[in-house]
Amino acid sequence: MSTEIKRLLTGLQPSGNLHIGNYFGALKPFLDIYENYESYLMVADYHALTSLRDPESLRRNTLNIVRDYLAVGLDPDKVVIFRQSDNQDHMELAWILNCMVTVPFLQQAHSYKDKLAKELEPNVGLFTYPMLQASDIVLYNTDLVPVGEDQRQHIEYTREAVGKFNRTFGETLKAPQEMILKSVGIIPGTDGEKMSKSYKNTIPLFGTTSEIEKAVMSIVTDSQGERPENVYAIHKLFRQEKELESIYDENRGRYGDSKKLLIADIEKFISPLREKRSLITDEDVKEVLKSGAEKAKSVSSKTLATVRKAIGID
Ligand code: ADP
Ligand code: TRP
Repeated sequence: MSTEIKRLLTGLQPSGNLHIGNYFGALKPFLDIYENYESYLMVADYHALTSLRDPESLRRNTLNIVRDYLAVGLDPDKVVIFRQSDNQDHMELAWILNCMVTVPFLQQAHSYKDKLAKELEPNVGLFTYPMLQASDIVLYNTDLVPVGEDQRQHIEYTREAVGKFNRTFGETLKAPQEMILKSVGIIPGTDGEKMSKSYKNTIPLFGTTSEIEKAVMSIVTDSQGERPENVYAIHKLFRQEKELESIYDENRGRYGDSKKLLIADIEKFISPLREKRSLITDEDVKEVLKSGAEKAKSVSSKTLATVRKAIGID
């Protein structure tokens, strides 16, 4: 039996402040297992450019997201934390993988179709986004990618691109597996749609008490008398379902009380992490990113060299 340590990688876009969907969908599953793997955690800043056009926000969000990674307990000595744009290998492999897939194939991507349906600008970056993500993953010979349910298709797309490449040029790239927690699913935002930085419907992970209050109080609820499913779906991330069911039964018809309890539960969870986060400086973050960039490059450059050789650009 092989005793080779497997590789784990995930990425989050610094397109806004992290929300509880990001935490429970991607960060927490990563946090729970990363010490058993050779782990990589990326700040997907080139991906964020598909929706964010404000340099100051991009800079600030990038520092903030790394601060969030550290505050939730990730140890930078045990995981390579790096910024996508610090390693141009991602750009080069993305181009190569773009040449492996067709336009109709990318047109079928849910994330692309969802953004079109919401009348967000369909820029070409958004269109080829899955191949940049595929390159993020395969450059590190990743075995497992912890992500939220909405990202399942992107990992399938990665496997497609890998398959096409390997069939064309010989076995070169490793096909990854997604790791998606069924118990988490897609966490709804305050409007009942998928919680997302791009949809302005989030409960911020490290929001102030009043931001959290405002977000929770604005969660849309169904007609009176029923269980407020949108509130419940978020609440069950913070409390045992058994206990919650009876609380929600008692609170039937009084949505405000359930929302207030949810606010208190979020506060209880986040306040120690918030305190830890306040002690992390920009300098600490820059140090982590600098060392992460070097480690990331030393791995990706080897993969890229084999790819270049396989395609005849060496
Ligand atoms: P956003 O949609 O807010 O921009 P990202 O696309 O940066 O978030 O997602 C980062 C990670 O968080 C991904 O693994 C994604 O699947 C997960 N994630 C984002 N939103 C949710 C959600 N509402 N429920 C579960 N997981 C989510
Ligand atoms: N597309 C992912 C998202 O929106 C972010 C991402 C970029 C990613 N590169 C990645 C996730 C590589 C996992 C692996 O959530």
